Parts: sequence; C-alpha cells; structure tokens
Amino acid sequence: MTEATKHLLLVEDEAPLREAIGEQLADRGYLVVQADSGEAALACLSEFAFDVIVTDLRLPGIDGSAVVDAAVERYPEIVAVVVTGYGTVKDAVEAIKRGAWDFVNKPFQIDELLHVLDSALEQRRLKSENAYLRAQLDARHRFEGLIGKSRPMARLFQLLETVAPTSSTILISGETGTGKEVVARAIHHNSPRRMHRFVALNCSAIPETLLEAELFGHVRGAFTGAVGNRQGRLEQAHKGTLFLDEVGTMSGALQMKLLRVLQEREFERIGDSHTTKVDVRVISATNSDLGRLVADGQFREDLFYRLNVIPVQLPPLRDRKEDIPLLVQHFLEKYQAAAQDTGAGRSGTAAKPAPITVSQEAMRRLMSYRWPGNVRQLENAIERGVAFSSGRAQIDIADLPSELVQIEAPAMTSSVSLPEDGIDLDALVTSIERELIQRSLERTSGNKGQAARLLNLKRTTLVEKLKRFEKLPSSP
Ligand SMILES: Nc1ncnc2c1ncn2[C@@H]1O[C@H](COP(=O)(O)OP(=O)(O)OP(=O)(O)O)[C@@H](O)[C@H]1O
Ligand SMILES: [Mg+2]
Repeated sequence: MTEATKHLLLVEDEAPLREAIGEQLADRGYLVVQADSGEAALACLSEFAFDVIVTDLRLPGIDGSAVVDAAVERYPEIVAVVVTGYGTVKDAVEAIKRGAWDFVNKPFQIDELLHVLDSALEQRRLKSENAYLRAQLDARHRFEGLIGKSRPMARLFQLLETVAPTSSTILISGETGTGKEVVARAIHHNSPRRMHRFVALNCSAIPETLLEAELFGHVRGAFTGAVGNRQGRLEQAHKGTLFLDEVGTMSGALQMKLLRVLQEREFERIGDSHTTKVDVRVISATNSDLGRLVADGQFREDLFYRLNVIPVQLPPLRDRKEDIPLLVQHFLEKYQAAAQDTGAGRSGTAAKPAPITVSQEAMRRLMSYRWPGNVRQLENAIERGVAFSSGRAQIDIADLPSELVQIEAPAMTSSVSLPEDGIDLDALVTSIERELIQRSLERTSGNKGQAARLLNLKRTTLVEKLKRFEKLPSSP
C-alpha cells in the first residue's frame, strides 16, 4: 500500500448497494471500510482518520448529516460526499453548508461518484489553505485547559467538577505527560481556595535532607546553614493547596511526618519547639503504582489511605486516541499563535496567515503511535511540526519526529500477520478478546448487558470471561 492510497469510509444501510459500491471503489484503488449505520460510522471515525467519507443522507437512527458534522468537526481535512435520495436538493445544499464537499443523487452511476471524488480530492490538494470548517474546541470538551472528549476524559471532567469545590485530599495517578499537574491546578482553580496559593513541591527533584526543610521550614540555627527563620511550603500553602508531586519517592521518615500533618493539620518547623497549625488541601501525584509500593513495603499503608481519599486516574493517550485530533488542533492553534507573536505579526499590519492544518496521512500516524510520553510528547511533536512547516499551510509526515515516520503506515483493516517464528495463538486470542470486551464496556459506560449485546454474547458469558481475565496477569 502506498501513502497515496486513500482510505474511504462508506456509510449506507442498504447492504446490496453498499457492497456493490464498496467493491467498485476498491477496484479503483480506494481502501474501503463499510459502515451500515450512522452509529457504526461514528465508531469508525473515532478510531481512524479517513481521507474520504461517502455517506447516504437518509439513515435510520443517526442520519447522514450528523455523520458529516462529526467527520468535519473532528477532521477538518476530510472530504465528505453525501448521497441523496429522490433528488432532495434541499438536503444536499444543507449538507454542503455543514461542510460536505459535494453530493450525488441516487440512483447514480459509479463513474459519477468517482468523478466527484477525484475532483474533490484534487481541489482539496490544491486548496490546502483550509476552506474547511475548523475543528471546534468547544467548551463542553474542556476543563480549565484540559482537553478531551473521549469517554474517560468526559468522566474525569465530571469527577473534577464534583470534587474540586470540596477540600478532599486527592491522589492523581497516571503515566508521565498525562496531565497530572494540569489536573491539580485545575482543581485548585475551581475550588474556594483559588484566592490563596497553589504551592507545588516535587518530592523527587530535591535531595532527601533538603526536602524536609522545604516542606516544614526551619528556625535559625536548626542545622548548619540555617541562617534565618524560613517558612516551608506547607505554611506557604496555608488556606490554599499543596501539590506533592512524585509522592511515591518520599523516604520512610518523611512519610511518617507527612502522615501527622494529614491527621492533625499541624507540624513543627525544623528546630522549633512551637507547633504550627495549617489549613491546606493536599493533592498528590504519582506515576508509579502507589498501591504496589504499599504491597512491596516501600510506602506506608496508613499514609496511602490518607492521600488516596479520592483517586483520580489519568488514562494514557494511547487508550483515548479519539482525543488526538482535538489535542492536535489545540496545539496547532497554540504554536501558530506563538509563532505570530514573535514573527511578522508583531507590527499588527501584516495579514494573518491561514491556519496550519495536518494532513490526514500525518493524522493517521499521530493516531496510531503509542505515545509513551503521552500529551506532553504530542505537544512537542506539534510544536516541532509547526516550526518545520515554515510557510507551508499543512504539516505532513516529513515534518513529524522520526519515531512516527518509522512506524508502519497504519490501515484500518483487521489483518493479523504470522511472524516467522510463530505466535502464541491462545495468548493472542485472549488479548484480542480482552481488548474488545474492554472497549465494549467503555462504550456502554460499564453496562454489562449492553456490552454483551454489542459482542453478541450472553451477559453471563461476558461476566464469566471478565472473571477469568481477573485471574490472569494484567497485560502491559
Ligand atoms: N488533557 C490535556 N489537554 C491539554 N493539554 C494537556 C492535557 N494533558 C496534558 N496536557 C499538556 O501536556 C503537558 C504535560 O502535562 P503535565 O505536566 O501535567 O503532565 P504530568 O502528568 O505531570 O507528567 P510528569 O509525570 O512527567 O510530571 C503540559 O504541557 C500540559 O499542558
Ligand atoms: Mg508532573
């Protein structure tokens, strides 16, 4: 498959018609994925950056115009063509207003559709200065600078809205770059404590001996070099929020002292006989599994429970790739604005350059990469892409970091390859089963009955399988 091969999503509920068109498009070199309903189309769009979508306008359930809306909102670069029945020109015009490129009337000859597609793709290529609707970063998909519309993020925003106004102690866990600090700040800014300080202390960045003094402060002469009285971070955060980052790296002695603060809300500065009272909300963060550190005896269990009153888990980016187009759009705007501030735009008279976009080929790479550094790494990739694209209106594969260029071009097909030295079939089948069950539960907000229906299983079978998975070691 070459990079120029176009990925096309075909949405049509009449099976014979869909299959006939699908076959003819495939003969002309398109890589076609077929969807038999609006719902199925939305599911495909959330997983994959298609170049083209051809959709019937009349569909039972979610109709074609909603599918077009979803496609162009998410992927400003997609070419959407609608198929209208019985010459309802009004509907077609409406679809085009909403961002569809063109339409064909039913019944049509395949050549007619091919012609529309060819010319749309050609114009699209020539017109990369973005005649398309911009992906809209609307308020529903944000929480204080946090962006995401995937189910895990929507759930996170809900949780944050509930807990932010309280003073509950919160433990945020998640891999590096998933936004733990952004979440901590967002909680503070949505709490009644926002008028007071948000004080951050990274427990792994400071040597053990200094960490205690940083946290509690000291009085004059408490230790060599303690020249004056000094407030610690705890006191600085009085009435505000103390953010303890990488809390899992704290020594046993310090864990003990922190526990007392959480229980009694009081402490002594180092070298002080007088006790200081504080009113702080503690939010801590960790990228290691603190529960496991407790099991291994490296972290105090009592402290763990005190810190983990409300657990907030940040999902890795690879588990919510439907957020990637939205984040990409956000970072494009951010870095293009930054480039204009420092560049020619400063005079205020220069015309604003057209917004930069990302080609669908590049978007596919961005969506299939594993992102070990999560959102931070994605942000860096886009910043770099904006810099490399100098003058061009579109970021392409060549502008992406080499780790993304090297991965195999992703395709939305379910082919499985058999490596030279074979595979462990049972393990592979189990992992596929597990992933599909996981996804169906996510899509149905954990409703096992609905999830079982999606998989065409009995509910009891699904429950049995879940039990069996619990006994297996968790997959990486
Ligand atoms: N949901 C999000 N929406 C927008 N930007 C995000 C989001 N999550 C993270 N970021 C951005 O990613 C970067 C990393 O976020 P942050 O520093 O909070 O990560 P972290 O989880 O604390 O990572 P580490 O464990 O390495 O300290 C920041 O620049 C932040 O703005
Ligand atoms: Mg951090």
